[in-house]
Amino acid sequence: MTKTKTDHEHAQPIYPYPLSTVPSYPSYLPAQTQAIGSLLPVREYPQNENPPKLFEGLTIRGVEFGNRCWVSPMCQYSSDNGHATTHHLVHIGSMAMRGWGAIMMEATSVVPEGRITPGDAGIWTDSQIAPLKQIVDYVHALKGVIGIQLSHAGRKASVLPPWDLRQATQKGYSGGTVVSEQYGGWPDDVQAPSAISFNPGKYPDPNEASLEYIENLKLKFDEAVERCGKVGFDFIEIHGAHGYFLHEIVDPISNTRRDQYGGSFENRVRLPLEIARSIRAKWDKPLFYRVSATDWLEEDLGPERDERGEWKWWGIEQTTLLARELAKIGIDLLDVTTGGNDLRQKIKVGPSYQTPLAVHLKKNVPNILVGTVGIITEAKQANDILEQGKADVVFCARQVLRDIDFPLEAAMDLGVAVNPAVQYELAWSRMLKNRREVHHTCAERYGITEVQGGEGKQLRM
Ligand SMILES: Cc1cc2nc3c(=O)[nH]c(=O)nc-3n(C[C@H](O)[C@H](O)[C@H](O)COP(=O)(O)O)c2cc1C
Repeated sequence: MTKTKTDHEHAQPIYPYPLSTVPSYPSYLPAQTQAIGSLLPVREYPQNENPPKLFEGLTIRGVEFGNRCWVSPMCQYSSDNGHATTHHLVHIGSMAMRGWGAIMMEATSVVPEGRITPGDAGIWTDSQIAPLKQIVDYVHALKGVIGIQLSHAGRKASVLPPWDLRQATQKGYSGGTVVSEQYGGWPDDVQAPSAISFNPGKYPDPNEASLEYIENLKLKFDEAVERCGKVGFDFIEIHGAHGYFLHEIVDPISNTRRDQYGGSFENRVRLPLEIARSIRAKWDKPLFYRVSATDWLEEDLGPERDERGEWKWWGIEQTTLLARELAKIGIDLLDVTTGGNDLRQKIKVGPSYQTPLAVHLKKNVPNILVGTVGIITEAKQANDILEQGKADVVFCARQVLRDIDFPLEAAMDLGVAVNPAVQYELAWSRMLKNRREVHHTCAERYGITEVQGGEGKQLRM
């Protein structure tokens, strides 16, 4: 006998709407209601009434950054002939799920010989666009903001990734870090402002880049910017720091040229300014410049400028002059780091150790935002920097690798509620107290209590 359904059995609580998805995304992906890591509405979360500066949004040239806790660029030395791989999608994708206000992709070379290692990222050819676009599309589908750092490694190119050198050293190897052609290096084609090795006997002996090479390099930066447009990046950073080409050329330590790119301060900063100007003319989205604000050479070489007024090494005085020119060109943000161009550097390392240099630039350079980086690992520390007006945004690098949830944990530490990814909401029930009912049904589904759900990871309150 066929069983007939009662009226009651027919009345299932059917949800009458389509499920939330990101329509433009090629595969099914649940939609995020707002940027992950951005403040939730005050009407539901009154604790967000006067938010800490770390979670104040920021808009630059129409690009909206959900908070001021950003990912600093980090080389992975894991690209396939300069092409991003699954590793990059997973690595960057996980950050995008965790609420960083912006993610900057690693130093990405505009020419093959500008890579640090054979595994460095590149953007010198069109086939590198698609794998980058896959990452950027995913981040955008999560309502995230993503940019790229454009670079040329100069005299520090064609070397080993750090782990290969470490492993070899542990086995007793004490030779150089130069990668031979046989293993994908280009030791004879390392190009630098001057033929001065970073570490003679250990690092490559670079060629002095010809004027023709420099002219072509400017074009290569321009071509890379065009590709960035095709990829859909939200912002670009020019890498002018850490002893790579654009740091080497501004620095009297590594630039002994006698042409229009060497000698006087004006000549040494000519190339970065030409590149910045040219990019600014064709890129209307946010444009940043990363600068090493000092070589940290006071102890060995005395003041940055000698008594005759001659510049000896690269320090904060020249950085300030360069920054003023960059501001005039329309660079939006100065990302202030230090060091990397001379082995004699004596860095005074500690929490926020580079922030005093950012403060100097913020005070002395009008019309430019300032970012600070370097051992920023605590919510209060990061927020105090911003509240005290020492910088406009903070960048984290190693903290991202140690604690990828740092922005959400920082929000809890600072007493505000920010948006977690919808797929991860259950882990943040302590922050999302007023979503408790919904989380409760979800917790029932998995046979866990809400408290267990909240304490699976030790949440700091
Ligand atoms: C694994 C790793 C890779 C890095 N790669 C880059 C890079 O591609 N470009 C860059 O400008 N800085 C790079 N850096 C430096 C960081 O961006 C950052 O300035 C530095 O680590 C200090 O910040 P932290 O104390 O938060 O780690 C790298 C740092 C790490 C740890």
